[in-house]
Amino acid sequence: MSALTRRATGKGAAVAARPFHYRGRALCCDGVSLEELAEEHGTPLYVYSAQQIRYRFGLFQEAFAGREATVCYAVKANSSLAILRLLAEMGAGFDIVSGGELERVRRASGQENKAALGRVVFSGAGKQVWEIDAALKAGILLFNVESEAELGLLAERAEALGVRARFALRVNPDVFAETHPYISTGLGSHKFGVEVGLARAIYRRAARSQWLDAAGVSVHIGSQIRAVAPFAAALARVASLVGELRSDGHEIRTVDAGGGLGIDYNDSPTEPKFDAARKVREYAAALGKASAGLGAARLLVEPGRFVVAQAGGLLTRVLVVKKNGAKTFVIVDAAMNDLIRPALYQAHHEILPVAKGRGASAKVDVVGPICESGDFFAHDRAMAKVKAGELVLVLDAGAYGMSESSNYNTRARAAEVLVDGDEASLIRRRETLKELMAAEIL
Ligand code: LLP
Repeated sequence: MSALTRRATGKGAAVAARPFHYRGRALCCDGVSLEELAEEHGTPLYVYSAQQIRYRFGLFQEAFAGREATVCYAVKANSSLAILRLLAEMGAGFDIVSGGELERVRRASGQENKAALGRVVFSGAGKQVWEIDAALKAGILLFNVESEAELGLLAERAEALGVRARFALRVNPDVFAETHPYISTGLGSHKFGVEVGLARAIYRRAARSQWLDAAGVSVHIGSQIRAVAPFAAALARVASLVGELRSDGHEIRTVDAGGGLGIDYNDSPTEPKFDAARKVREYAAALGKASAGLGAARLLVEPGRFVVAQAGGLLTRVLVVKKNGAKTFVIVDAAMNDLIRPALYQAHHEILPVAKGRGASAKVDVVGPICESGDFFAHDRAMAKVKAGELVLVLDAGAYGMSESSNYNTRARAAEVLVDGDEASLIRRRETLKELMAAEIL
């Protein structure tokens, strides 16, 4: 943190849907000037607001406070250690999908917070032996198991290590949720989970193993789902299954409703209207209703995007502005290797100039320098005119941005900064070319 990036914050102000706002003509993240962050750390640069992340996570904790519940942050949305630490300090649980993510949770939560590992759920349609072993040894809360074959492997590994494995079968509720097809997961035709109709027999067979403990049932229908009704429909199916399982003698103690609550990527960049608090309350109420008949069971939820997406932006500098035919291209120094969402899901991200524009707006394509036309951030976007050397911020990039970044085109991964009020800390320095090639053998 440098004196350069220190700025006073308006304490006590209501938390807006995004932490980025103009102070005068300068775009800031909470109390810190983005221009100064770019000067100090270079671009492309991910910038996150700790205040916004705490606020968003706190909304879930508050909304479910009236019942036994654990909010397990979906690590894949943004797995940077400093962000995981911030959430661990709030008492978060974690939803992981790999041995790598388990290691991140372990490092981020530190010696003083071993309890965090006891709040980990391990999801994913295919788990490797070493990953299962590491999670069993860590004493995680439970495994979300996605097939009977995986259950067999889990029993085998639990026996080998002499521990009992708590599991929840992830059922596929065959519920349609309006979202991009790549991130919809709750239909019978998807690779995820087990048909609800088969679940009872699988639990019955699992009960024969002394190494398996049928602790719960889980479901996850997809991501970026804005309506709450599909979550309720899926959970209602799970609730009736839990009733049947209990009558079969299984002691079901947890019900995992998955993640997936969506945000508004199209919200006004300068006057956001999205009411995050209301959305989370609505979500919690719908889940509450759907699980009313459950009796004693801990509810788990696994939000990822909702907690971090709007807390982060990708700061990038304009390299060139060029015209090709009727089109104007703003070529920036960030690219699809830094933020792949537009290329992969045709995702919309608002973009703001860091120095508030005075000039007329023009329709431009904002693109990266990578050698394919899929490398874009916006097509035909009306934006205040920007020139080479100026900075722009791609909004709502806190989720599935850095965590989906790559080294495509042998580009070093971006640096990351976490702003806390008027303080900014570098939480990941820019990768060097040496590091980028370190694992290669010549
Ligand atoms: N739980 C499970 C089992 C999941 O598979 C996911 C996300 C989550 C929780 C968290 O979902 P969220 O609350 O973040 O929607 N890369 C895509 C999103 C992929 C989501 C994968 N699974 C994107 O950028 O839109």
